[in-house]
Amino acid sequence: MGQRATAVLHRDLGRNYPTIVRGEGVYLFDADGNRYLDGSGGSAAVTAIGHGVPEIARAMAEQAARIAYAPSHAFTNEAVEECARLIVEEFAPPGFEEGRVWFVSGGSEATDNAVKMALQYHRDRGEGTRHLVVGRWMSYHGSTIGALAYGGNAGRRRPYAAALPAAEHIPPCHPYRCWADGACSNSGCSLRCADALDRTIRQAGAENVAAFIAEPVVGATLGAVPAAPGYLARVREICDRHGVLFIADEVMTGFGRTGRNFAVEHWGVTPDLITCAKGIAGGYAPLGAVLARPEFVTEVARRGRSFVVGHTSSGNPLSCATGAAVLRYVRDHDLVRNADEMGAYLLARLRGLQERHPMIGDVRGLGLLCGVELVWDRGHKQPFPPAWGIARRVGEATLARGLVSYPGTGTADGVAGDHLLYAPPLTIDRAQVDELVDLLDASLEAVAAEIAGMDAAPV
Ligand SMILES: Cc1ncc(COP(=O)(O)O)c(C=O)c1O
Repeated sequence: MGQRATAVLHRDLGRNYPTIVRGEGVYLFDADGNRYLDGSGGSAAVTAIGHGVPEIARAMAEQAARIAYAPSHAFTNEAVEECARLIVEEFAPPGFEEGRVWFVSGGSEATDNAVKMALQYHRDRGEGTRHLVVGRWMSYHGSTIGALAYGGNAGRRRPYAAALPAAEHIPPCHPYRCWADGACSNSGCSLRCADALDRTIRQAGAENVAAFIAEPVVGATLGAVPAAPGYLARVREICDRHGVLFIADEVMTGFGRTGRNFAVEHWGVTPDLITCAKGIAGGYAPLGAVLARPEFVTEVARRGRSFVVGHTSSGNPLSCATGAAVLRYVRDHDLVRNADEMGAYLLARLRGLQERHPMIGDVRGLGLLCGVELVWDRGHKQPFPPAWGIARRVGEATLARGLVSYPGTGTADGVAGDHLLYAPPLTIDRAQVDELVDLLDASLEAVAAEIAGMDAAPV
């Protein structure tokens, strides 16, 4: 029998995937010797400290040799204790210094676990009717059945809609394409989108609502849209008024990505629970976590209860030792400051690109989490026909030139719309930012030439 081409069930069965064999800094190398700038930081915003860092490999080897796995129902271990301590003492935002960390293996698990913790919190306080979660359209919180339900990514929800648990959704906070009253612009937001939370909670009955979940900067679904000034403070106030917990999804934004340790710090808002993953271990190991405020932990402990959650790999020593090594690297190399500085430079350079390319409708972002929205008609913000697959085309064009982008669709209304997300390693320097933008520039020019003369039917 001949050798199979692949036994892997790849995401896209019609695509030929190049084989990556090595990584170094912000670059990836495939089996044919091609070099790629990791502009998306993995899929996406994962590879926080870049590839091939020797001290991380050493820390992992040492931990694996000592103890790779320990039964978490019976023991704690040094790695999980150290990783949790580093997070609360050196990275967590104000209000979490005395908090606790529950470890999981990724972002979707973190979402599901945060919701379970919120439900248990209410039940333990005698408010067991609080079962509903309010999320936002155009947000993404993961791909498990629960996380999909709370998120509002239409394309990812559609095939599984019938199986999703009940959840409520409010409009996104998105001044460029305001869903609330259409009167907002990039320079201002009326915050009516935040008031939709109050209305939704009252309509459902506050006694039925457990939590509100939101990304401070909407990553994969909208392409790096930061909350408008005042938005997070308003939703915090609404949650408090109704006894609803606020879960901040910092799976993409946590651990320095936006130029602060956690994105909520840009707005001075304190959530009850924070979910994280991705940058926490920089892609060197699967790791996610839920950060809980001390008040939250005390409340459950006061009733002598334990959290009814559990995963075989929770607190895995190898993953946690990797996470601790990555976080120490972020701290010791001042990468949060670099994300702030290089993020501002990347955003400015992408805005410069907008002047040269009429198909760039909007450029936005915070720190090293930036998005470029592509439109057919900039004046009217009209998206390309979805059948043209513009984001995918530009993504393939950048890949062919040696730049990994993270294309997304449905940006305008859940169905139409295209964007590219850029979230390179926090180690990136100015010359590498220039390289990223120049490769995107050439790719946009090539795709513009490809589609010149094609008529866009109204969407
Ligand atoms: C904001 C956000 N939350 C949750 C998730 C789910 O994380 P994971 O893919 O690790 O399950 C993602 C993944 O992209 C994300 O961007």
